[in-house]
Amino acid sequence: MSESEIRKGLAGVVADVTAISKVNPETNSLLYRGYPVQELAATQPFEAVAYLLWHGELPTAAQLAEFRTTERRHRALTPEVKAAVDALPLDSHPMDEVRTAVSVIGAFETAGTGSVLDAVGTPEQNLQRSLQLFAVLPAVVSYGQRRRRGQELIESRDDLDYAANFLWLTFGEEPHQAVVDAFNRSMILYAEHSFNASTFTARVITSTLSDLYSAVVGAIGALKGPLHGGANEAVMHIFDEIGSADRVEEWLDAALAEKRKIMGFGHRVYKRGDSRVPTMKAALDTLVEHYDRPDVAELYEKLETEFVERKGIYPNLDYPSGPAYNLIGYDTLTFTPLFIAARIVGWTAHILEQQASNALIRPLSAYNGVDERHIEQYEPDTAAIEVQERPEEAAG
Ligand SMILES: CC(C)(COP(=O)(O)OP(=O)(O)OC[C@H]1O[C@@H](n2cnc3c(N)ncnc32)[C@H](O)[C@@H]1OP(=O)(O)O)[C@@H](O)C(=O)NCCC(=O)NCCS
Repeated sequence: MSESEIRKGLAGVVADVTAISKVNPETNSLLYRGYPVQELAATQPFEAVAYLLWHGELPTAAQLAEFRTTERRHRALTPEVKAAVDALPLDSHPMDEVRTAVSVIGAFETAGTGSVLDAVGTPEQNLQRSLQLFAVLPAVVSYGQRRRRGQELIESRDDLDYAANFLWLTFGEEPHQAVVDAFNRSMILYAEHSFNASTFTARVITSTLSDLYSAVVGAIGALKGPLHGGANEAVMHIFDEIGSADRVEEWLDAALAEKRKIMGFGHRVYKRGDSRVPTMKAALDTLVEHYDRPDVAELYEKLETEFVERKGIYPNLDYPSGPAYNLIGYDTLTFTPLFIAARIVGWTAHILEQQASNALIRPLSAYNGVDERHIEQYEPDTAAIEVQERPEEAAG
């Protein structure tokens, strides 16, 4: 393969097929198992969307009830996981905290499997492991924020659904329905997005027949980067830096002169706008109204207008979700862990799909280093070469 054929960053390369979601930049649409994501966000609880992504169909009422019962059974942090999180410094990044928690959960769940050949598990076991991670991550993420604030772990409320319980676990108050709805929407919008960097990482790890937890830990590492999941956190830093709508133009002039990347704008696939943004912006608007913070909407709209006008680059999902999570009361450092709690569904759906139709992912590279050369004082060990060439005799 010549260097001119290489697609840096695999841009535009179709690596495999998937039946989980379809991103269509031409029509600016995102489908989960055939359903437009904005329809799911407007009508479904996150649990139903998780079921859809794993099973291919939305659940019936009875299936959803059973799914919710199982989810509620697996919400609690085990003492071992809590102890592992507590052992980390309070100023470690919460992404490292969640990555550690998943690693510890994986070590306990796969303990006793012995050989690496057995750790991979059956499809049924992996579906169960996926549901367990989905159920426990709200406690991991919420506890991370609470411990940084010097607060105790809170127990889950079995009378609350996933989204309401998540907010309860973080803030210890029964959340307002408007807030639950906005949060639920954000989880659905973040749940899945085809072969993004973290999902592809999970698929690469899965393709070696490694276990689901190792694949999720790797995916968390990929998501941490500011060019991927870390962007929602970075958006909030930008909002804090700018302060108010009247400072946008001056700030943007300086930022563009310094050739800074403006976080929350641009996308590898969508070049004319991210299909998820209007739905999340509507959720942000309800939060702006609920918390009576028109200043947030003013800054949001001013920066969007100015940036699109100057660069022709549109916002991505992280742009509205950053300020939305801020209004709800999440610390900026918790934003990307919230993304994990949602994307765990997409990651694990892809892990299951990869396992069901596996091929080791191992691309080629074109070498552009120095030509072959040799160590001057090196003398080949002719005896060793002879042994290599006559293995039967050597063994005998
Ligand atoms: C997401 C992202 C990595 C996509 O990257 P990509 O498809 O490789 O696009 P490129 O980085 O090649 O961008 C093409 C051009 O637009 C510019 N550009 C893209 N996004 C930009 C942004 N957010 N701010 C400023 N300039 C941007 C690039 O600098 C580049 O300009 P150049 O041709 O003069 O070098 C990129 O848009 C980005 O870094 N965005 C900010 C981070 C972010 O919000 N990530 C979350 C993604 S969901």
